[in-house]
Amino acid sequence: MKIILKHPQWDVFDSEQRFQVLVAGRRFGKTYLALVELCQAASVRGRLVWYVGPTYKQAKRIAWKPLKEMTRPYWAAKPNETDLRIELIWGSTICVRGADNYESLRGDGLDFLVLDEYASMAPEAWTEVLRPALADKQGRALFIGTPHGRNHFFDLYEAAQERPNWATFQYTTEQGGNVPSEELESATHEMDERTYRQEFEARFETLGVGRAYYAFDRIHNVKNYRFNPQLGLRWSLDFNMNPLCSVLTQVSHGVVAVLEELILPDSNTLAACEEFLSRTEKWNAGSLLHVQVYGDSTGEQRHTSASRTDWQIVKEFFGRYRDRFNVTYRVPSTNPMVKDRVNCVNAMLRNHAGQHRVMIHEHCKHLIRDLEQVCWKTDPHGNSLVELDKSDPMRSHVSDALGYYIAREFPMRPQMGERSGPAIF
Ligand SMILES: Nc1ncnc2c1ncn2[C@@H]1O[C@H](COP(=O)(O)OP(=O)(O)OP(=O)(O)O)[C@@H](O)[C@H]1O
Ligand SMILES: [Mg+2]
Repeated sequence: MKIILKHPQWDVFDSEQRFQVLVAGRRFGKTYLALVELCQAASVRGRLVWYVGPTYKQAKRIAWKPLKEMTRPYWAAKPNETDLRIELIWGSTICVRGADNYESLRGDGLDFLVLDEYASMAPEAWTEVLRPALADKQGRALFIGTPHGRNHFFDLYEAAQERPNWATFQYTTEQGGNVPSEELESATHEMDERTYRQEFEARFETLGVGRAYYAFDRIHNVKNYRFNPQLGLRWSLDFNMNPLCSVLTQVSHGVVAVLEELILPDSNTLAACEEFLSRTEKWNAGSLLHVQVYGDSTGEQRHTSASRTDWQIVKEFFGRYRDRFNVTYRVPSTNPMVKDRVNCVNAMLRNHAGQHRVMIHEHCKHLIRDLEQVCWKTDPHGNSLVELDKSDPMRSHVSDALGYYIAREFPMRPQMGERSGPAIF
């Protein structure tokens, strides 16, 4: 496999400092560089090197396959698919790890470590477990990420500028050379300025008081659209069970109208389907109603009834009503990252040009409250984490449901390649 680094990637690769911090925009080529650095570090005999992502699942999805491809000619044995470990013929080992369960990462002495998407990780993974793991071998570390407000990644980046043995780098997406300028130009129109600066110019923005959907305001995003029989209906579900939330929307000329919210306390998927049936009766007079279904892809694995997954229940339900609904499913195989999903919703609520492309009926009180109140979780120092605060059981589920739909139909550009998979059915 031929590997050619772009100029800014080379600058990082060339640096000889023990600790490096790379802050770069989306699609800059951060993960690609991380994998090349790992292979380089493992090219010396007897090394142990780790790729660490924010979660095991994410790390596996992003890094495992390309790492196997890059190292295939040098495998000592078949890679271990459970432990995500590649042994090389000269006795070095490359492992893929997730920082979500960082306590379990104790015990190994490392020569080199990449922390990819560090802004989305619990900072204790570094301070309590990974930093000590570098001590005995004087191992090196590379921190990589796109900013998320002024959280622990910002603190690290600032502190690194003052410390010996540390190097810092900051690049925009454009400097990475992987995204055509027309694509970036189009993103400037679709996103609000602050998100654009953060995601594509890699700037550490102040994210206000932590409100996730800061682009929402009642004056511009609450409007009472009626059902339009010329248009199909879109139903998007979150499978939290208490409450079980979903939204009914229609879209016309790129504007999403949220007509109704379905909030069912202590419920199940079949009950949500029955509620859907009763709510849509008024729109379904005699003719076939076109419905596109969206939602949480994990509903394909999770069982809220003993024997069937949530999506099986939905499919069986619509199977019984073929005479009333013509259904297409638009559920991806993996959910987008929470941060991307929230960015997409904000971009639709208000974009850079000041356009408001989501209109919510005033009777969707839970959704409106969510958009006003849902916050990012914070760490004990008040830094924003890349996780929504779910401490109030009533909050976030209905806005999650809206987000699944928006992220699927109005994704952030440039497209985040590996982040949302193909449709599952
Ligand atoms: N030096 C390079 N040569 C060829 N392709 C590259 C190079 N660097 C990056 N790419 C390609 O550019 C795309 C984006 O790279 P990568 O996934 O590493 O970016 P990223 O900054 O990690 O993105 P994200 O913000 O989505 O995590 C990928 O398709 C990758 O294969
Ligand atoms: Mg990446």
